[in-house]
Amino acid sequence: MSVLPSGSAEPGEHPPAPVNLWFCPNEDLAPGIAATLASYWLDEHEQEVAGRFLFERDRRQYLVAHALVRRALALETGIPEAEAIIWRSSRGRPYLQTPSGGLPRGADLLDFNLSHSHPYNLLGVSRGLRIGVDVERLDVGERGLETIIATFCPEEQEWIARAAPGRPRDRRTLRLWTLKEAYSKARGLGLGLPFDSFAFTLAEDRGVHSFRPPADDSPERWRFLEIDPVPEALAAVAVEVDRAHMPTVHLHHGFPWGRAAPRRLVLPETAGV
Ligand SMILES: CC(C)(COP(=O)(O)OP(=O)(O)OC[C@H]1O[C@@H](n2cnc3c(N)ncnc32)[C@H](O)[C@@H]1OP(=O)(O)O)[C@@H](O)C(=O)NCCC(=O)NCCS
Repeated sequence: MSVLPSGSAEPGEHPPAPVNLWFCPNEDLAPGIAATLASYWLDEHEQEVAGRFLFERDRRQYLVAHALVRRALALETGIPEAEAIIWRSSRGRPYLQTPSGGLPRGADLLDFNLSHSHPYNLLGVSRGLRIGVDVERLDVGERGLETIIATFCPEEQEWIARAAPGRPRDRRTLRLWTLKEAYSKARGLGLGLPFDSFAFTLAEDRGVHSFRPPADDSPERWRFLEIDPVPEALAAVAVEVDRAHMPTVHLHHGFPWGRAAPRRLVLPETAGV
């Protein structure tokens, strides 16, 4: 019987590659540099989307986000930024195409997911298993959170209603929203998955106590992480896990020119309901 802690590598085995999270505010890449990198790195589809924005602010966000994706994927895989082939599912979810000989730095599969909420970008990269991320600003002002709340399960709506109006209630709403988006984005379904078909029970401040998945999924497949990368924003990550090879999480801040020392986080256990 193994005496290693759950998820540890056996002797001689490589530990699982960490899940890398890259939190990058737009200001970390000057507009001129973002535009130059994008002109070299982005593919035809990305260039075309970037050309369609009416407002410069939105174009800048897109350029920084997509330069971030290509740079982080290059660091992970060794595939040069402009050579990564990114394809999209019928629901718009981007995937990295694995070259016929596998990824240059090993592993057959790599999954990534991007979220942007002006002026922040969050990218999650995971080896093999699925990942979904969502970042939202907390200082939302009047943003119709009531409409969002109405899409949640009754028990989640009750939990939100028990918080004081204003920031405490908005925070509960956005914690649930980011977790739900992260999960549905990991599954590639986005808003196509009804948000009242699955539920979270959350700790007071941070952390998922339990997760009731939609009818076609099981709770032990997933781990969730809530992070507050800056005081004005909160974010959630959903990671599909293999319990025998539990990855750690590295949270990087800023544009990934190199590999600055990340913050190391642990994927906490989630109970099913
Ligand atoms: C994915 C979705 C939830 C994005 O929500 P959002 O809060 O506006 O955006 P976020 O910033 O968190 O995420 C956007 C990023 O998610 C990724 N994404 C797009 N579609 C996705 C999907 N179905 N699943 C996971 N990720 C997706 C993209 O990288 C996108 O950024 P990009 O457009 O710059 O490449 C929403 O657009 C959606 O539900 N799309 C699916 C639509 C669909 O089902 N269409 C079917 C054909 S009609």
